[in-house]
Amino acid sequence: MGKKIFSGVQPTGNLHLGNYLGAIKNFVRLNNDSENNCVFCVVDLHAITVKQNPKELRDNIRETVATFIACGIDPKKSIIFNQSTVPAHAEAAWLLSCVARMGWLNRMTQFKEKAGRDKEKASVGLYSYPILMAADILLYDTTHVPVGEDQKQHLELCRDIAQKFNNDYNVYDFLKVPEPLIQKEFSRIMSLKDGTKKMSKSELSDLGRINLTDNKDDIINKIKKAKTDTLPLPDNIDELVNRLEAKNLLGIYSSLTDLTLEKTVDKFKGKNFSDFKEKLSQVLVEKIDPISSEIKKLTEDKSFLDEILLDGQKKANDFASKKLRKMQEILGF
Ligand code: AMP
Ligand code: TRP
Repeated sequence: MGKKIFSGVQPTGNLHLGNYLGAIKNFVRLNNDSENNCVFCVVDLHAITVKQNPKELRDNIRETVATFIACGIDPKKSIIFNQSTVPAHAEAAWLLSCVARMGWLNRMTQFKEKAGRDKEKASVGLYSYPILMAADILLYDTTHVPVGEDQKQHLELCRDIAQKFNNDYNVYDFLKVPEPLIQKEFSRIMSLKDGTKKMSKSELSDLGRINLTDNKDDIINKIKKAKTDTLPLPDNIDELVNRLEAKNLLGIYSSLTDLTLEKTVDKFKGKNFSDFKEKLSQVLVEKIDPISSEIKKLTEDKSFLDEILLDGQKKANDFASKKLRKMQEILGF
């Protein structure tokens, strides 16, 4: 049976190779299976949990849509829309925030990481962010949620919220309890400058990430400068345990070429990093350069992107507003 897929990406600029290999590549695969119903959301309400520049946010929303399409998501097959244009998301988030427990949210590691040392100064939205994410998912009777590994805990929270709502109001199976779709391998791409940190939009140095808008020269330069160690590449994957940067680069190669890590290790065993980096740059350029050119082309056509968002809004709103209405009835409104 087909799956009901929902996932979201924040329009905070600089979508990168981690987003692509951890999430968007999977979106494309799911979009291509005609049995599935896919909804891909540009989550601007999530983006403002950290202060954004309004003009940049507006541009980034369109650029995220352009990126989805440039990576291969077909807006005729999947719904692409912008979260804030469907009011049910914010409303359902309030209803669910009365079901979620403080103790559950207090365990969220992403809040701890993002809030940093001074929790008192973090926005309340940053804290309750996973409840909004649960609303996103539950409004569409989602069965499967493709995400990178960093979102696993938020999905567990979403499952808990759905189950508690169903139990508290005696509505068996009303909110569907979704399954995460997290790739077994390469679900966490690390920074090119530090193998202990995930590749991220917020890393200050641009050299830590390959942006999906990077051109050929940027990619070659960043791979040249990527951190490595002094040993040749190992004979087997066990030797990668303490060689995080080597493991990450080999993982990126594997994921791009759809090879297992074992096969990639076998292919490059005993080679120097400079030989391997040349091959890695080649496969990266082959994959990312066309995506990058397409993003640039598409972002120039604002009305095309706006039409896709408008069409997506209508379809998403139609579904979500009905589900919200049922939630309200269950609650006694
Ligand atoms: P975000 O840009 O934070 O909205 O993330 C969008 C999607 O990309 C989510 O599914 C994340 O789990 C995924 N993602 C973000 N960074 C990485 C990374 N370094 N490795 C793998 N997946 C990632
Ligand atoms: N929180 C996710 C992230 O930062 C983005 C997101 C918002 C999402 N709503 C979602 C992902 C619903 C999957 C499903 O990456």
